[in-house]
Amino acid sequence: MRSIAFLFIVFSFISCNNSENLDKKVKVDEEFVFDMYEPSEMTLLMRSMYEVHEELKKEIIAGNTPDKFPKDFLNIYTATLTDDKPKNEIFNAYSKVFIDKEREMFSNSSELPIKQRYNTAINTCISCHSTECVGPITRIEKLLIN
Ligand code: HEC
Repeated sequence: MRSIAFLFIVFSFISCNNSENLDKKVKVDEEFVFDMYEPSEMTLLMRSMYEVHEELKKEIIAGNTPDKFPKDFLNIYTATLTDDKPKNEIFNAYSKVFIDKEREMFSNSSELPIKQRYNTAINTCISCHSTECVGPITRIEKLLIN
């Protein structure tokens, strides 16, 4: 039993380091890991995208229609993952859908309401996370506009 649990933990760690509990566990177990832990380019990008969407949510609720696509988001194609994990085709496919939906959100020519376009973009964050990295999903869901 123990070895199965161990394998599971190792597997989750490789597939996504972002379950917060797991991070803490590793930090407690191995102080060196704590000292040397450096977030990946992708982790930093994701954190900044999270903050950008918190702001966008406020803007949209306040009645504004943001129309400047943040070019930094394109770094999702090149940013390296934790431990330089290679990106698989599913990841690349979701990245593309995500960027398309983001561009649509900021597009002046779309006829769909901004709230709907925004929520569609957030749902693509969630879709990718449900295949790659389930840890942050509950946090991401908080970005949806009801
Ligand atoms: C194409 C897949 C994909 C998309 C789209 C995506 N993510 Fe992520 N996200 C990941 C992966 C993979 C990681 C783990 C990165 C790593 O380990 O290097 C991650 C990590 C995160 C984290 C954890 C960062 C940390 O502090 O550890 C948050 C929060 C996050 N994403 C939010 C978002 C939000 C918000 C969006 C949409 C605006 C989004 N993600 C879109 C795949 C995706």
